[in-house]
Amino acid sequence: MTKMWANSTALYQIYPRSFMDSNGDGVGDIPGIIEKLPYLQGLGVDAIWLSPVYASPQVDCGYDVSDYRTIDPLFGTLADMDALIAATHKSGLKIVMDFVANHTSNQHEWFKQASTDRHSPYRDYYVWRDAKLDGSEPTNWISLAGGKSWTWSESAGQYYLHSFMPEQPDLNWDNPKVRQEMCDILRFWLDRGVDGFRIDAAWPIAKSYEDEVVLDAKHPADYGSYVHDKCKNGPKMIAYMKEMAQVMTEYTDAFMIFEYYTDEHNKDEVGEYQELSYINPLVSAPFVFDMFRLPWHASARAKRMAELYQRIAPGVRISHALGNHDQTRIVSRFGESQARALAVAQLTLPGMPTIYNGEEIGMSDYAVPKSARQDNFQAGGGMGGRDPERTPMQWSDEAHAGFSTQQPWLPVNVDYKTVNVAQQQHEPESMLALYRQLLQIRRNNKVFRDGTYSPVDPKNGYVWAYQVSNGDESMSVYVNFADQPQKIASPAGQLLVSSVFAVESHSIEANYTLAPYEAVVIQKEKL
Ligand code: NOJ
Repeated sequence: MTKMWANSTALYQIYPRSFMDSNGDGVGDIPGIIEKLPYLQGLGVDAIWLSPVYASPQVDCGYDVSDYRTIDPLFGTLADMDALIAATHKSGLKIVMDFVANHTSNQHEWFKQASTDRHSPYRDYYVWRDAKLDGSEPTNWISLAGGKSWTWSESAGQYYLHSFMPEQPDLNWDNPKVRQEMCDILRFWLDRGVDGFRIDAAWPIAKSYEDEVVLDAKHPADYGSYVHDKCKNGPKMIAYMKEMAQVMTEYTDAFMIFEYYTDEHNKDEVGEYQELSYINPLVSAPFVFDMFRLPWHASARAKRMAELYQRIAPGVRISHALGNHDQTRIVSRFGESQARALAVAQLTLPGMPTIYNGEEIGMSDYAVPKSARQDNFQAGGGMGGRDPERTPMQWSDEAHAGFSTQQPWLPVNVDYKTVNVAQQQHEPESMLALYRQLLQIRRNNKVFRDGTYSPVDPKNGYVWAYQVSNGDESMSVYVNFADQPQKIASPAGQLLVSSVFAVESHSIEANYTLAPYEAVVIQKEKL
């Protein structure tokens, strides 16, 4: 583990379109991020990850890159990006870029040439196949964006593959030239000073080109009607991820995090995390999405976390997330008190957690009216309808929530008058105050970053309990999943934080009673 990343407290995901608009065009931009760096310093995170800001036709909000070496004018210029890199470093923060590895835009020069000229050197940068003998698509795969995964190209005379939209053709990672190009792009940004990457959609970079097993023949157009062990997670996937991670080792302090969703049909989901954790634990780690994917159930979580921490590579900094720009916000998923309790868990589990912008003030999904929708993903795919979690950051109760002087690209959530940064800054019991407190104790106590997780029996089935320890330091965390108070078998010690009450650290007796949905952190008295 590189020194700088080893000391890292937490990563903060910025969705640039919705973070801060500095030039009044209704879309967030890079100068807007620079403006808000002091806020992030005050929050207590120490690294930021930017969803893609590369040149793009924006069919998938930047996850369709047409040039990886330039910045889209929507967000600013290359000079703005250089300024942001310098400013984050000056503020003591690190900066991570999103790296769209699996596909490019169909407007990328490589694809333009590949689709019009069979003899182009870029032809084999993408995946081309003839139709099946009956004229149908080469495989029965359904795209995560809805519709089939293959589109016929008249100019190319073949089908091309797209795991997402037709405007996002999959790169052919089996071609060593593609892998070299992609690794060179990583180097381009590392040379410019970025500290790492979030690897977008790592799961489909390798495939086995065969039909998927059909589970529900009545709904052939639905992604969920198939098993997905051919269109993703191919035998070479880990090898290709290793090649990317290897590039990090060429630099003193670079790190990468893989976006990877474990498979619902895999009986050993933890085995998938385990495999990813061993790619190169010093310079890479997987996201873990269990915090929002698991049911609201104490023992299900206790069981999963115990197994996870037992099996992952020693020292790896897995990144627990409560959400992101593709997922229902945690408050909308489970409720506000529950979100507060989960924040305590997320920010006390060993690793390097990622906070999605707005989570720290308890932003919820907003039912964006049909006429204002922006997400081009269609129903039927594995993703889609992601506008509700992408609405603008709520900075204040001023017009457009202080995000912009103009009508923003997506409407602001109507709750911005009460749910906003300015208001919560001064409220000791606000969500923001809780996040600040948690991030501070995380920063002050190394055990939360690299301690050992061990399960604890709270003698209460409604409570998930664990301990993180390191040498003679030991912290116990209890999370009440019930809407009623629960007595627990806890040790006497210092109560460091509660998700319900604004507490200063103070000593408490053994056998605490948790309030409904309360999560607490207790530092054991040293013997
Ligand atoms: C995952 C990203 O998080 C999502 O927003 C995007 O649409 C797909 N990958 C395709 O790049």
